[in-house]
Amino acid sequence: MRFVVPSETVRKGAAIAGAVLGLGWLSGLGAHTAASTRLPPPALGRPAPHLAAGWPAPPAGPLRSRPADGSPAAPTTHDLAARLRYTSWPRGAATASAARPEVDCRKAKCIALTFDDGPGPYTTKLLGMLAAHHVKATFFLIGGSIRGREAVVRRELAEGHAIGDHTWSHPQLSVLSDGAIRSQLTRTLGEIRRATGGGTALMRPPYGATNRRVAVVTRHMGFAQILWSVDTNDWRDRNSAIVAHRAVSWARPGGIILMHDIHPTTVNAVPKILAGLARRGFTFVTVPELFGGRSLKPGQTYFDGPVPRPKNPRKDVAPRPKGPGASPHAAAGTPVSTTGGAPPGR
Ligand code: NI
Repeated sequence: MRFVVPSETVRKGAAIAGAVLGLGWLSGLGAHTAASTRLPPPALGRPAPHLAAGWPAPPAGPLRSRPADGSPAAPTTHDLAARLRYTSWPRGAATASAARPEVDCRKAKCIALTFDDGPGPYTTKLLGMLAAHHVKATFFLIGGSIRGREAVVRRELAEGHAIGDHTWSHPQLSVLSDGAIRSQLTRTLGEIRRATGGGTALMRPPYGATNRRVAVVTRHMGFAQILWSVDTNDWRDRNSAIVAHRAVSWARPGGIILMHDIHPTTVNAVPKILAGLARRGFTFVTVPELFGGRSLKPGQTYFDGPVPRPKNPRKDVAPRPKGPGASPHAAAGTPVSTTGGAPPGR
């Protein structure tokens, strides 16, 4: 893929930003807790940014809170349907371990971990790792893999993660007919509905292969296209140390990191990734949280989220790279058409 490898400039900038803003890994808390404590709590009665931005409203009444022992509550279909589109931390959660203020990624240094092509045999192990550090991620699901693993998908939602549609059989959508594109997405949406009772407004085109027609179909279907800003190439390099190094050192504020939970080497890299990114001061968010204050437009292609506004531009955050070799998207949310072939595995 041509738009996924950060330039040396990016890596240096990220390293500098990380050194300046680095926070220690807080055992048992997770970086978001450390970062979130700097944010003012949301005012009661104020509409959530998601709602102002056009995200569907959560249902009336509180979502189920987690039991006092911290174990995830068995979610009702009502809860799951709400969280599919309004995927965030459970609102009104009673226990301290489950509650946190909404993260504002215009202020916090956010990063969204995404895992594609599951659910798979290692997904449960990954969920355990994420839960141990109270980290939320986003899963782009293959419809054909959901059957038999419905409980895993339900657990992803129950534990606060977001899910998206990654087609039925992972074809390159840009070479399919409109009807075939629609079928790939609809069948998977049907499986997600069957497993959880709800849908999703997020999709990711396999290989990042999208074009104008994919944009039109996804617009009509109500899907935002979520691409990525960091490709760990974990499908090719089945080496946990390499995957962890790339995820940690290539991450930038507002970034979306592409990984695959069908590879054990990737899942085994996750503890190092969590520790490394936390050390760099990142707040872990789901994709909906990353865009919390902004409107995600159906059909539009997103590569990363907002970048925190620096208090002192000269010191706080490295500027976005420009010019050849830099990240291909000049600004967050810029629609970019990608065509052409793609290697297998993503
Ligand atoms: Ni994929």
